[in-house]
Amino acid sequence: MIDIDLYIEQKRSIINQAIRRCLPQSGPTAVIDAFSYSLEAGGKRLRPILAIAVAETIGVEVSSAIDVACALEFIHTYSLIHDDLPAMDNSNLRRGKPTCHCVYGEAIAILAGDALLTRAFEIMAIYGMQEGREKKAIRIIAELANAAGVAGMIGGQVLDIEAEGSVPALAEIERIAMLKTGALLKAAIMSGAIVADASEKQQKSLVAYADNIGPAFQIVDDLLDYESTAETLGKPAGADEIRSKANYPALFGVIKAKIKAEELYALAVASLEDLNRPTELLGELARIMVYRNK
Ligand code: IPE
Ligand code: IPE
Ligand code: MG
Ligand code: MG
Ligand code: MG
Repeated sequence: MIDIDLYIEQKRSIINQAIRRCLPQSGPTAVIDAFSYSLEAGGKRLRPILAIAVAETIGVEVSSAIDVACALEFIHTYSLIHDDLPAMDNSNLRRGKPTCHCVYGEAIAILAGDALLTRAFEIMAIYGMQEGREKKAIRIIAELANAAGVAGMIGGQVLDIEAEGSVPALAEIERIAMLKTGALLKAAIMSGAIVADASEKQQKSLVAYADNIGPAFQIVDDLLDYESTAETLGKPAGADEIRSKANYPALFGVIKAKIKAEELYALAVASLEDLNRPTELLGELARIMVYRNK
């Protein structure tokens, strides 16, 4: 049996070391400080852990997924800095610390986000300069760009902002969760598949896993906003209600939202059956993503 807490702790430590090696070495202090502040404030490192876990499940070593792991966390951290800006969710707490713009000002926070996003693609380009990795790098870059862009996370963030104060149909709520959060989680899962040369059949199984666990993760994020505290979450609680965010628990209630997240979790685990590899690790990660308290 896998000790999932130990697995996560060990991978987090490897990821944190790799992230430190990827910090910019030169440039104006303000933006480098802001960039490092947000990256090193903590965070579950879920997307890099997923990429590594998929790569290991299919059968390659952690080292082959470490660059894309860092790139994913850079893109994710950028998205959080921008998500917290006054023009978006206007939040003052993130990862247990004052948000980037509260410490460094809005201009530097915007630029730090831009720098994180740009650096993520630089990391992948450098990865692709190693012999034999060119094609994988291009495929991963396409996957990341698509997931982070208008067809993915940015598109979802636009819909999320536009839906504030409205009562959209279920399909629209699901679309928002899938795009703003599911897309990057899926890119994490699929880039693990790319580095490990997963077969078509394995990729199909991982797509189904991602399509279920991504939205489940966002529903739980929305539930925690209702039910948890800022102290536990490291970010404000009750903020979605204040901003009249249109999300699953807001529209259908907390109980239905919990049931939905559990159903999606079960579907995610079931979709691993076709992987033809041990599924315990990815099953356990899916469980942690749904049954979590922060
Ligand atoms: C928070 O993501 C924002 C969402 C996409 C729901 P995480 O819950 O993974 O945040 P960190 O990385 O642990 O801070
Ligand atoms: C954020 O969703 C999704 C992205 C950052 C892309 P939320 O706005 O719900 O995330 P939190 O709750 O602020 O972490
Ligand atoms: Mg938001
Ligand atoms: Mg937010
Ligand atoms: Mg939230």
